[in-house]
Amino acid sequence: MISFTLNGKAVTTNAPADKPLLWVLREDFNLTGTKFGCGIAQCGSCTVHLNGAPTRSCVLAISAAAGAKVTTIEAINATKEGKALQAAWVVEQAPQCGYCQSGQIMAAAGVLKQAKAPLSREQALERMSGNVCRCGTYNQIAAAVVRAQKTLA
Ligand code: FES
Ligand code: FES
Repeated sequence: MISFTLNGKAVTTNAPADKPLLWVLREDFNLTGTKFGCGIAQCGSCTVHLNGAPTRSCVLAISAAAGAKVTTIEAINATKEGKALQAAWVVEQAPQCGYCQSGQIMAAAGVLKQAKAPLSREQALERMSGNVCRCGTYNQIAAAVVRAQKTLA
């Protein structure tokens, strides 16, 4: 039995210790906002927060989440960064097919937490470059990150 905190609630799972967190979230907790893309930590579509830091859940064994705080796209709106980002995402009309966008917002929340100074569009593009979008929404995502940061300032 593995215990952790999921979106603010204490939970337990009897999933195998090596089951990736991504599949525990999707299959055992029915949190399907977190997406499977590559499965090898290369695309970012499975990004969640582990103790507040963006983490690729496709390669994180559930045993590594024992005792940790896990936050998914379903609850990021409860943070000030998540709230600002989701509003900015709407204004900038960032999504196309939408598949990568949960991971993009979770990564962006990490970027905003880490940023010590206002980000330029180019800096936002660079800091978000680890998250792949097959629809090519990079410019809208960068604009949304910059917009969200301004609303938090
Ligand atoms: S599915 Fe995890 S990084 Fe691509
Ligand atoms: S919006 Fe389609 S993959 Fe990013």
